[in-house]
Amino acid sequence: MAAGPMTSPLGYDPLDEATLADPYPQLAALREQASVAWHEGMECWLITRYEDCLRVLRDHATFARDPRRLGIPVPDAHLSVQVLDPPQQAGLRSLFMTALHAQDLDALQNSVGQVIRERLHLCAAQSVVEAMRELAQPVALAAISDLLGVTPPPLAEWAAISDTIMRSMDAGLNPELIEPGRRARAQLSELVDSWFTTTGRSSGLLGHVRAHTADASPEQAAYVRHSARVMFQGGYSTLTAALGNLLYTLAHHPEIWPALSERPGLVRTAVDELVRFDGPVQGTTRLATGDVTISDVHVRRGEKVTVLFAAANRDPDTFELPDQLVLDRTPNRHLGYGWGTHACLGTVMAQRVLAVLVDTLLDTQTWPCPAGPAPRRRTATMRTFARLPLSLQP
Ligand code: HEM
Repeated sequence: MAAGPMTSPLGYDPLDEATLADPYPQLAALREQASVAWHEGMECWLITRYEDCLRVLRDHATFARDPRRLGIPVPDAHLSVQVLDPPQQAGLRSLFMTALHAQDLDALQNSVGQVIRERLHLCAAQSVVEAMRELAQPVALAAISDLLGVTPPPLAEWAAISDTIMRSMDAGLNPELIEPGRRARAQLSELVDSWFTTTGRSSGLLGHVRAHTADASPEQAAYVRHSARVMFQGGYSTLTAALGNLLYTLAHHPEIWPALSERPGLVRTAVDELVRFDGPVQGTTRLATGDVTISDVHVRRGEKVTVLFAAANRDPDTFELPDQLVLDRTPNRHLGYGWGTHACLGTVMAQRVLAVLVDTLLDTQTWPCPAGPAPRRRTATMRTFARLPLSLQP
């Protein structure tokens, strides 16, 4: 058994400047020296080895997502596919999964490709482009709106709402974020509810969901709406972050450009490798439903466990050359999209959007180059840029 809880193991602070800039050395030190470690400030166990992370994600009987299983109340408005656990979650998850697979993803990919081309054309006229605002955000908003079959809200307004919600994910570290987060969630609810209450156009993923839940109980109908919010806001913010991280990695690894140009078939595996290498979702939390041992460390019922995807994805016991980009890495069972019953519902779509971005950069011979300091946002759960100045000229 490990000794008692450790205070901030190895000084790990997800929000300090050096960790925000490059979390991987700190995460590697944690994984090597205290792979299951209690963090006093975060009040949770940090799990950093791939196999341990996988075990927590797979074993939803022992590791709950839904706090109500431990007697902790959850506001009704938060109950969605992301919070409910099996068996309650099952029908909802399969409804959204089926709706996703009913979409014409080739058509979606083509229309996203068109948006990317237009944005790149505009970017080419500027020597320095703020790529989050000019490329990642508009592409993500167009893609997610198209998938859901809704009219996109105005970008600037929507980006502000989404940013506030994203920041409030770290309310555990900073309680001042709770109230603005609540207001932004109310705005999101209003928007998503309007898609359910307006009659008329009923296409896309939400059209499918609406058609298949016309007879749902009020409780089920509420879960469906809350899950639609997660799809829209979670999908948008994660995709935006992923597009930014991918552009940054490409800009800082010009050596991969010739490899991709010579073997365009590499793009599909390359975009997965880019998510493993520097994905947007750093971790997730679960609650132990009983006393349990993880790698010889005793975790008590009710304690919070944080699975650090970012650490697991660089675990040398699972990935050869974990700190290098291996564009044709196969298999690549990284945890960038999670695993198990709460694994990402948008994986297929996200992979396509990332691939079409790389394909379009290749087609237009546009290779991103760094064009100034790129500060990260001070957010622990989502790894993303506050600003990303790039040159995007063919
Ligand atoms: C590259 C982009 C993306 C990445 C890296 C990503 C990553 C993730 C991860 C790691 C989780 C699991 C979190 C956990 O276990 O607690 C997750 C869940 C989820 N993602 Fe994504 N995501 C991406 C894009 C999207 C998109 C575009 C959508 C919507 C179309 C989406 C919808 C969801 C939903 C609904 C969940 C919750 C699933 C559940 O709890 O059952 N994601 N995502």
